[in-house]
Amino acid sequence: MANKIPNVRLNTGFDMPIFGLGTWKSKPGEVTEAVKNAIDVGYRHIDCALVYQNETEVGAAIQAKIAEGVVKREDLFITSKLWNTFHKKDEQTKKILEIATIKPAVNQVEIHPYLTQVKLVEFLKSVDIAVTGYSPLGSADRPWAKPEDPKLLDDEQLIALGKKYNKTAAQVVLRWLTQRGIIAIPKSVQKKRLEENMNIFDFALSDEDMAYVNTFERNGRGCHLAWNNDHPDYPFHAEF
Ligand SMILES: NC(=O)c1ccc[n+]([C@@H]2O[C@H](COP(=O)([O-])OP(=O)(O)OC[C@H]3O[C@@H](n4cnc5c(N)ncnc54)[C@H](OP(=O)(O)O)[C@@H]3O)[C@@H](O)[C@H]2O)c1
Repeated sequence: MANKIPNVRLNTGFDMPIFGLGTWKSKPGEVTEAVKNAIDVGYRHIDCALVYQNETEVGAAIQAKIAEGVVKREDLFITSKLWNTFHKKDEQTKKILEIATIKPAVNQVEIHPYLTQVKLVEFLKSVDIAVTGYSPLGSADRPWAKPEDPKLLDDEQLIALGKKYNKTAAQVVLRWLTQRGIIAIPKSVQKKRLEENMNIFDFALSDEDMAYVNTFERNGRGCHLAWNNDHPDYPFHAEF
């Protein structure tokens, strides 16, 4: 069932759907089908990047769906990202705000129940910068995951919480993010999961359960950028 996806109004005046499709690790041979399926079931926001090495195949899906008349280009919010070597010197958010002539509209950072980012989200809201939560499902397929690493979606407490709402652990996590006003971009190449992940706008977590999920915090960062640990700004996030 396709639920209506709310928008987040950016400080640029544009609206960004609070829910979209992640495409990192989606193989070139499978991502075209995944994006087509996602558009068919109602996704209107696709998160891409040059470094994912599949933008041509994502583009082919978008082009096909526009040609079929399923969507118009202006119906879609497409995110891309320059790789770091195309940027000027890295700056943290506060430093950027001090010198930037164009204020950033969105900060995309890792957020899920094991890395709740409560203070960073609070700060970004206070300066009118929207937040996208990447790896919202814990990114179990990240290439450097070790077998002993905890898997967010296997968390018994999340599964139990889901049962209370007749939802899966993934749906609880995605609802918790979007209910905080955070844009969520779960990746899947499986049609059933594309639909499952989107089916989160027909229920709400209670205030107590929102706070309960926040207690899962364990500084569980999956994307650590440790290969840049000699950079003066490493780890590229404030220690709150
Ligand atoms: N800016 C950045 O530096 C940055 C870094 C990381 C990620 N991102 C963006 O964020 C997106 C999402 O993050 P992510 O790809 O790291 O991980 P994620 O979305 O947290 O998790 C993806 C994994 O969860 C599985 N999955 C999806 N839905 C599921 C469900 N309902 N039940 C069980 N498993 C499910 C997927 O498998 P299947 O595909 O087989 O369903 C895949 O293994 C990326 O694709 C990318 O667009 C950005």
